[in-house]
Amino acid sequence: MKPFVFQNPTRLYFGEGQIRHLTEEAKKLGGRVLLVYGGGSIKRNGVYEAVMNALREAGAEAVELSGVDPNPRISTVRNGVQLIREHRLQWVLAVGGGSVIDCAKAIAAAAVFEGDFWEVVSRKASPKGALPLGTVLTLAATGSEMNGGSVITNEETQEKLGWGSPFTFPRFSILDPAYTASVPRDQTVYGIADMMSHVFEQYFHHDANAPVQDGFCEAILRAIVDAAPRLVEDLGNVELRGTILYCGTMALNGTLSMGVTGDWADHDMEHAVSAVYDIPHGGGLAILFPHWMDKASAQYPEKFAQMAVNVFGVKPDGKTPAELAKEGIGALRAFWKSIGAPTRLADYGIDDSKLRVMAEKATAFGPIGRFIQLNAEDVADIYRKAL
Ligand code: NZQ
Ligand code: ZN
Repeated sequence: MKPFVFQNPTRLYFGEGQIRHLTEEAKKLGGRVLLVYGGGSIKRNGVYEAVMNALREAGAEAVELSGVDPNPRISTVRNGVQLIREHRLQWVLAVGGGSVIDCAKAIAAAAVFEGDFWEVVSRKASPKGALPLGTVLTLAATGSEMNGGSVITNEETQEKLGWGSPFTFPRFSILDPAYTASVPRDQTVYGIADMMSHVFEQYFHHDANAPVQDGFCEAILRAIVDAAPRLVEDLGNVELRGTILYCGTMALNGTLSMGVTGDWADHDMEHAVSAVYDIPHGGGLAILFPHWMDKASAQYPEKFAQMAVNVFGVKPDGKTPAELAKEGIGALRAFWKSIGAPTRLADYGIDDSKLRVMAEKATAFGPIGRFIQLNAEDVADIYRKAL
């Protein structure tokens, strides 16, 4: 275990009916708020109404920025900043999935940044601060509700990049499993693949003496493997929604990476794919991760063997680590297929014409990955295998 500093300032309100706390939070943060949401799901499932009621009770007035796209864009961030300046808004409230929250984080930081905010996203400048941000989460997936990270797409240059800052942790996040019950099957599956991938990115490390961190990872993965098949057949089951929602938040709020160095190459590879083809993030990860595992396990089979036994219940008797690793990765493939995740880039109509372009984008800041290191050639090879 390496030395580490941990601080997570987000106040979490988890469970049915927790929206009532929005009123007291709004009273603290001020009467003029930018309300950020997506393409309208919150109007169909009643969440918008609940949010507006809570804001009204607090005496807060909302200026709305709607239409945030999945894979949110820098142009939407700029529109949000304009609204904040025009109406002199005091804080930002994101109501939606990871895309809405990521966009709101960028708006909150861009509102107090002088200059072009893409400089921050592309890691050429650092944010100087941010307006306070609160979230009401409606989709279990990214963990953005309890971390400082954000992923923004520049549609002109076809770049999709992650950035983050201590300033952009939400002040509070409201997580009501019932609000996620209207998420359709495909998005539910993408969310599950995404949160499992977050666990994998942190589970595959070379740090010694991290039995608790590894155990947390395995417990989250086991809970997902147990709940997900039942949930996709019973989408309105609020209890299962609650399990998955909790797993998604715990997978990326910093808990799993205390004292260990995760890998994150699959996220870099997936962001490059969705920068060029605008595919759902979780779908891309479900396609790429098993191929990365094939490659990494050829070099370091032990941790994959551990995953096979502790997550997928593979019987270890007399098998070598390499054999166990193969069975474990096979079990993951079978699991993702069973819940309806995509398995090939061709499922999104992606052919071999832009593999090199994507590989260059994925490695634009140098070789990627810490568990194993990948250069552009290695990345192109993984894409090719995933075709
Ligand atoms: O736009 P609306 O109408 O709200 O519909 C959304 C959207 O079409 C819909 N949806 C959300 N909640 C719903 C619902 N539909 C019905 N009922 C509900 N309750 O779901 C669709 C997808 O939403 P989106 O926010 O794009 O999904 P997700 O939460 O998976 O976020 C994906 C984005 O987050 C980034 C990804 O790269 C991607 O851009 N990530 C952010 C991370 C972070 N900040 O820490 C980490 C992740 O690894 C990830 O990269
Ligand atoms: Zn992710």
